[in-house]
Amino acid sequence: MKILCLGAAGFIGSHLTKRMLDEGHTIVAVDIYDDKITEFKDHERLTFIQQDIRRPDWDLERLVQDSDLVIDLIAYANPGLYIKLPMEVFRLNFTENLKIADACVKYKRRLIQFSTCEVYGRTLVTCANGGLKDPENPSYATFSEDTSEFILGPVEKHRWIYACAKQLLERVLHAQGLEKEFNYTIIRPFNFIGPKIDYLLDETDGIPRVFSFFMDALINGTQMKLVDGGQQRRCYTYIDDAIECIYRVVENPNGACDKQIFNIGSPDNEVSIRQLAEKMRDIYAEKFADPSVPLPEIVEVSADEFYGKGYEDSDRRIPDIRKAQKLLGWQPKWGLRDMLIDSMKYYVTEYMEVKKKRIDGEFMHDIVRHANAA
Ligand code: NAD
Ligand code: UGA
Repeated sequence: MKILCLGAAGFIGSHLTKRMLDEGHTIVAVDIYDDKITEFKDHERLTFIQQDIRRPDWDLERLVQDSDLVIDLIAYANPGLYIKLPMEVFRLNFTENLKIADACVKYKRRLIQFSTCEVYGRTLVTCANGGLKDPENPSYATFSEDTSEFILGPVEKHRWIYACAKQLLERVLHAQGLEKEFNYTIIRPFNFIGPKIDYLLDETDGIPRVFSFFMDALINGTQMKLVDGGQQRRCYTYIDDAIECIYRVVENPNGACDKQIFNIGSPDNEVSIRQLAEKMRDIYAEKFADPSVPLPEIVEVSADEFYGKGYEDSDRRIPDIRKAQKLLGWQPKWGLRDMLIDSMKYYVTEYMEVKKKRIDGEFMHDIVRHANAA
C-alpha cells in the first residue's frame, strides 16, 4: 500500500514507519522533525516531507488523494502542554486534525486516527466520595471501547481539553462514518513506553511524560518527583507490543477494523507512579548506575507546583483489550521489568549521544559503559 503517515517521526510514528517499510509498503511521512527517523530517512520507499501542518501552504488534499491509507498521529500529547498551551492543544488536536479527516472523507480514503485512553477520564471511584463498597475493584477502572462512560473534570481543570479535543474528533469521525462512505479506525493507546520516547533536554521543550522525567532524574542525580504522592496508576505497554497491534489494524484483515475503536494496552502491567519510580530506581542501580554516585531521592510535590494551576489527574485506567484479542488475535507479551530495562538502556545511551556536547565528566561516560554492558 501507499500510506500517508502524519506524525511519522514521533515516538510511535517512527516505530510504525519502520515496521511498515519492513513489510514492503511505500510511505509518505510528514512531520516537523526528522531526528527519530534518521536511520531510515533515505529508504527508497520513504518520502519525507518536512511540514508544519498548521501552515496553510501544504498539499494535504493531493497527498490524501495519492494514498491508499492515511494514518494520523499528530498531536500535542504531553500533560505539561495541556496546562501551558491549552488553546494550541485544541487547535492542533482537533481543528487541524479535523482537516485531515475531512480530506479523507472527501476522497474516501481509510483513516487510522490516534486518539487516547485519556478520553475515558477519571474513574467512578473519584466521583463516588467514598460511597463505593469495593473501590479497589478493577472493574471500576477497566475501560471498554464501546460501553464505558467518559468522566472528565471541570472546565477550569484544563488538563481535560486534550481528552475533550480527542473525544470530539472521535465523535465527528463516527458521525461522518454514519453519513458518508467513510471508513476509519480509532486507536486509544494506554501509556506506551520504549526507545525513542521523548527526551527531557530542555525544560522549555514539550515537557515529556513521566518515564522521561524519571530517567532524567536518575541520570543527573536530581530528585524523582511524585505528583500528589504518586498514588495514580497506569498500565504500561511496550512499544513492540503496541506496534504489533497497530500493524494488524493497518492490515485490517477482512475489514475487521472498519469503523472500530481499539484500546491498545497491557492490563497486566498496572503500577502506581510511586512503584514505577521505585522500580526504575532499582533497575538503574542494578544495571546502569555508577556505584559511587548516590541514587536520587524520591520526593512528593503538589500538582500545582509541578505543572502549574489547572492540572487534574486520571487516577487509574486499565484497558479492556478483548476486542483486539478477538478481532485481531493480538496479545501483549512484555512485562514491566523487561520493558523498563530495554527502554532505560536505550534512553541512557541515546541521551548521552544527544547531550555529550553539553555535559562533561566521567559520570556520563560510566553511564554509557554500564548501559552497553546491560
Ligand atoms: P509524539 O509527540 O512523539 O509524536 C507526535 C508527532 O507529531 C511528533 O513527531 C511531532 O513532531 C509531530 N507534530 C506535532 N505537531 C506537528 C505539526 N504541527 N505538524 C507536523 N507534525 C507535528 O507522540 P506519540 O507518543 O508518538 O503519540 C502519537 C499519537 O498517539 C498522538 O496522537 C497521541 O495523542 C497518541 N497517544 C500516544 C500515547 C503514548 O503512549 N505514546 C498515548 C495516548 C495517545
Ligand atoms: C499521558 C498523556 O496525557 C497522553 O498523551 C497519553 O494519552 C498518555 O500519557 C499515555 O501515554 O497513554 P499521563 O499518563 O497522565 O498521560 O502522562 P505522564 O506524564 O506519563 O504522567 C503519568 C503520571 O505520572 C501522572 O499521574 C503524573 O502526574 C505523574 N508524574 C509525571 C509524576 O508523578 N512525576 C513526574 O515527574 C511526571
